[in-house]
Amino acid sequence: MPSSQASATVRVRKVETGDAAKLVELNRTLDQETRFMSMEPGERTTTQEQQAQRIADIAGSPAVALFVADEGARLAGFVAVSAGTLRRTRHTAQLVIGVRRSHWGQGLGTSLLHRRASGQRRRASGGWN
Ligand SMILES: CC(C)(COP(=O)(O)OP(=O)(O)OC[C@H]1O[C@@H](n2cnc3c(N)ncnc32)[C@H](O)[C@@H]1OP(=O)(O)O)[C@@H](O)C(=O)NCCC(=O)NCCS
Repeated sequence: MPSSQASATVRVRKVETGDAAKLVELNRTLDQETRFMSMEPGERTTTQEQQAQRIADIAGSPAVALFVADEGARLAGFVAVSAGTLRRTRHTAQLVIGVRRSHWGQGLGTSLLHRRASGQRRRASGGWN
């Protein structure tokens, strides 16, 4: 499903350094809203500065990509993908996806996965996009 069908006001795009505070808020919210993320409510200690550094690290890594669903004032979801770096694992990828509960069942998870998949195809020809 193209991202435009998930919601007219949500845009799926690559993460940017300026997303740090919104990403911290999204992750803390998801920790509260679902038991399927790795951390329990209150366990996450990541600061805005640490998150900004992680985003910068991702931008410099050919093996990691992070896409966000941007609805303006806040982020509605994300998908993170880490590709294998060894010759025997470079065809594999680990994927973490999270969508804000208020947006479940509206196609946003599907849009994030489609965006991730098209980025992965581009990676095969030189880098995430
Ligand atoms: C899983 C999640 C990303 C789905 O996002 P979403 O925006 O609601 O997904 P969509 O609306 O695009 O639905 C896509 C399909 O997945 C199905 N689906 C959604 N959540 C599901 C769940 N928890 N279990 C089984 N199927 C699910 C939908 O029914 C839909 O199926 P369909 O295409 O046959 O109708 C979202 O529920 C979420 O963030 N959950 C909490 C975090 C999580 O579980 N992350 C995955 C582990 S890292």
